[in-house]
Amino acid sequence: MKGILLAGGRGTRLYPLTKTISKQLLPVYDKPMIFYPLSTLMLFDIREILIISTPEDLPNIERLLGNGSTLGLSISYAIQEEPRGIAEAFIIGASFIGEDNVCLILGDNIFYLGEHINKYVDAIHKHEHSQATIFAYHVSNPNRFGVIEFDNNFNVKSIEEKPINPKSNFVSVGLYFYPSDVIAKANKLSPSKRNELEITDLNNMYLKEGRLQALPLLRGNAWLDAGTPDSLMDSSNFVQIIEKRQGLKIACLEEIAYKKGYINADQLEGIINNLTDGNYKDYLIKVLADEYEFY
Ligand code: TTP
Repeated sequence: MKGILLAGGRGTRLYPLTKTISKQLLPVYDKPMIFYPLSTLMLFDIREILIISTPEDLPNIERLLGNGSTLGLSISYAIQEEPRGIAEAFIIGASFIGEDNVCLILGDNIFYLGEHINKYVDAIHKHEHSQATIFAYHVSNPNRFGVIEFDNNFNVKSIEEKPINPKSNFVSVGLYFYPSDVIAKANKLSPSKRNELEITDLNNMYLKEGRLQALPLLRGNAWLDAGTPDSLMDSSNFVQIIEKRQGLKIACLEEIAYKKGYINADQLEGIINNLTDGNYKDYLIKVLADEYEFY
């Protein structure tokens, strides 16, 4: 399974924060925003990753993450010239995806998934060559999002983009899993009224073919999108509260790489030795000493 992290866009709702800086490089408490979706891909065991961003922002993202080898990842990069929609990721990433299945995550989506992640991984793998899998999250304000209507057995009945009268409180989050025929489907999409290739249109193609499952993110999981001043602040507050209370970090890429076995103790030690003294280094020293093994 390959992974695409889509980190372009205009970021107009965060203007003027985004006048010279990519939204995805803004801080969410103690890390750049892009660490969070990248950590989610890693937690789903996805190690071959394509990051797509704007011509202006891509060099900065590349300076931050490099080729991923220090984290046991393989990261490559591609440009989206204009924000022509989320589904364009599969056209830009066609040669990267090849014959593989692919996961797409949006660069401003922050997940806190806990133990349930194993359940989701199993459900995705069960049908990964034949079905698309999306996730549904219960929110209080569904009309800002793609709204998912379920039948009594949690089969998807419909998905509507930003409806005036939402049919449920479940919305589609920025994490999607597709078989490799997603490339052919994305190539058949026409731009919407707002002139974008819409991910909802793509998901509706799978729905029409009876090949779409939507997994509800259960209570105890958190999903935030950090695309507005308020949600950016909420995301920072959320991460700060959990990290201060537990003394454990969310989206510490080196920790995840080590715990997942993508890098060994010598490699983690090498990373630590290259860091300047401070909080982050102290944390990684504790990770290396297996002080947090239980978690
Ligand atoms: P949005 O938040 O929908 O768009 P945006 O980031 O341009 O922000 P705004 O609406 O305030 O102008 O995008 C969601 C995520 O997808 C975000 O991480 C940016 C990314 N994205 C792209 O990389 N390319 C695109 O063409 C679009 C539409 C979004």
